[in-house]
Amino acid sequence: MQELSQKHLLGIKELTSEDLELIFATADNFKDVINRPIKKVPSLRDITIANVFFENSTRTRLSFELAEKRLSADVINFSSANSSVKKGETLLDTVNNILAMKVDMVVMRHSSPGAPHFLAKHIDANIINAGDGTHEHPTQALLDTFSIREQYGKVEGLKVAIIGDILHSRVALSNIFALKKLGAEVMVCGPNTLLPKYIASLGVKVELDVKKALQWCDVANVLRIQLERQQIKYFPSLREYSLYYGINKKLLNSLDKKITIMHPGPINRGVEISSDVADSEHAIILDQVENGVAIRMAVLYLLAGSKMA
Ligand code: CP
Repeated sequence: MQELSQKHLLGIKELTSEDLELIFATADNFKDVINRPIKKVPSLRDITIANVFFENSTRTRLSFELAEKRLSADVINFSSANSSVKKGETLLDTVNNILAMKVDMVVMRHSSPGAPHFLAKHIDANIINAGDGTHEHPTQALLDTFSIREQYGKVEGLKVAIIGDILHSRVALSNIFALKKLGAEVMVCGPNTLLPKYIASLGVKVELDVKKALQWCDVANVLRIQLERQQIKYFPSLREYSLYYGINKKLLNSLDKKITIMHPGPINRGVEISSDVADSEHAIILDQVENGVAIRMAVLYLLAGSKMA
């Protein structure tokens, strides 16, 4: 069995392009499996996985749980909101107590950047980062690039614009790493205040004019304004943001080509994207969600490989 270069999935930054191709090839097989009448395989029958979520989630949490169940793993779910974290228990104590119950793999979402990297230094189980603050969201970037590959048959040579709140987005950073490793050209677009100062050093183009970004790209990945991470005002109002950066049908119709629209969710309809775009034939937003299950099955299966050998 082929293996990933890493024991954990902490970020896309640590993966090689060969790792990405191996995950995609494995996800191709699992996508076939989940479209069969019998959607379950026994691959992780003796593996126990804890989904440990210190931050809210709909797609990522459900998608991991479904992927684990499709692979026949035993699954436990932990949410900090109704846990002893509220009584002062630390992250390391929480996870060590979960691991004492003979858990093999931990899928973790945390609001602190680097929290999964910290855990990986202290525990033996495989750690999968399900989003760490404003840092990385590796499985989202994997399912995004897998969806682009599915749409165009390749990622190399394509032009991808990531539009919106780049400053607070773990999806943006993981997508930039994945797209660059796979040979795509990447542009970021948003108001100056929502673009990190260092961003050009990652080898991406920077554009402030959304129409120019849309005219340049084959694929636009539209990001949510993350108000929950913003302590100060980065633009005057959501109405104004929508006016200058919102993607709507009129804007798409003004282009001289058809582009693909992506969004990692959750969508704020009428802010960064209008309903007539989100629900249009341009958008592959629900394909991304479908692909998330196959991608997460692939990641879990490949990381568990060493345990099953
Ligand atoms: N895309 C994403 O991470 O969505 P959730 O926050 O609902 O998991």
